[in-house]
Amino acid sequence: MKIVVTGGLGYIGSHTVVELQLLGYEVIIIDNCSNSSTEVLKGITAITGVTPHFEEFDLRDLAKIQDFFKRHTDIAGLIHFAASKAVSESVEDPLLYYENNVTTLIYVLKELQKLKNAAFIFSSSCTVYGQAENLPITENTPIKSSKSPYGKTKQIGEEIIKDTCKISNAINAISLRYFNPIGAHPSAEIGELPLGVPVNLVPFITQTALGLREELAVFGDDYPTKDGTAIRDYIHVVDLAKAHIIALEHLLNNKNKSNYEVFNIGSGTGTSVLQVIKTFEKITNRPLNYKIVARRKGDITTAYADTSKANITLGWTAESSLEEALENAWKWEQKIRKA
Ligand code: UFG
Repeated sequence: MKIVVTGGLGYIGSHTVVELQLLGYEVIIIDNCSNSSTEVLKGITAITGVTPHFEEFDLRDLAKIQDFFKRHTDIAGLIHFAASKAVSESVEDPLLYYENNVTTLIYVLKELQKLKNAAFIFSSSCTVYGQAENLPITENTPIKSSKSPYGKTKQIGEEIIKDTCKISNAINAISLRYFNPIGAHPSAEIGELPLGVPVNLVPFITQTALGLREELAVFGDDYPTKDGTAIRDYIHVVDLAKAHIIALEHLLNNKNKSNYEVFNIGSGTGTSVLQVIKTFEKITNRPLNYKIVARRKGDITTAYADTSKANITLGWTAESSLEEALENAWKWEQKIRKA
């Protein structure tokens, strides 16, 4: 079966391509390489023994998308990762985010609905919940107007898909609301490749441990949590990748009760920033250079998922521990710096 993966050279996309190929799916990647590299194809090939078909173009170009769908009429499903993802950049350049994340989604759906019974998986985010009043966060937790254009593109994206599914019997869709993906493939052939100074916690930790950054700034120890640092739900990227395949197969095998569904994808466990640091120190058996600084603007206190809906309806559960995810992230960081 032919599955299109937009943004398939990116962090979560590349891990999903691997899992698809390991199950025998024929994958076509579309990526504009704006935040990724064709080197990733080598990693995917090393793990799976198969080089996926790759087309380099920008999804803002409607003519290119139309041409793509004219050439590929036998697509069973599309997993849509291609999007911009930096929260602060989205505040600086909102139109870039609305164009990259919303316009491209509309273009892709327009072409996809011309096919029969196409399955569509959308990369959404737990950012749609903001600071939830009750924890853990279920899919029924109220959506709060997002503070960043990035978050808004995920909320708007979900609405666009929901409305399209209401009138289009041609598309069956699932939005996956990711919590915090971390780690790398255990083979260290693929992983996260942040451009410049990392914004996210785990790549900043691994780069600090390797001496590429002087010290990690822990943003705030005055949150109302056990140790004062913020709590998130960290999920191994391979577990997250597998959730995409299970969601896709749920649609391909007509197991879905409605033609649009939403699932939280997280580990179900809340972990503080200091707990992540301590776990990492235990794994590497050496201290990490860090200092406590002021809170980062826009950060929430606590977010972790109730994943029962995905566990029961999809039969998906996160399998890897925080230790494994950090070990894999560390192995990957060491490998890319040696290369
Ligand atoms: N943190 C630090 N120091 C750092 C980086 C992060 O202390 O150098 C802290 C943050 O303050 C936060 C936690 O580590 O408490 C996790 O931060 P990340 O930046 O790794 O992740 P966020 O939860 O802020 O954001 C992530 C994704 C967003 C997505 C969001 C959804 O990066 O794209 O989850 O909640 F929108």
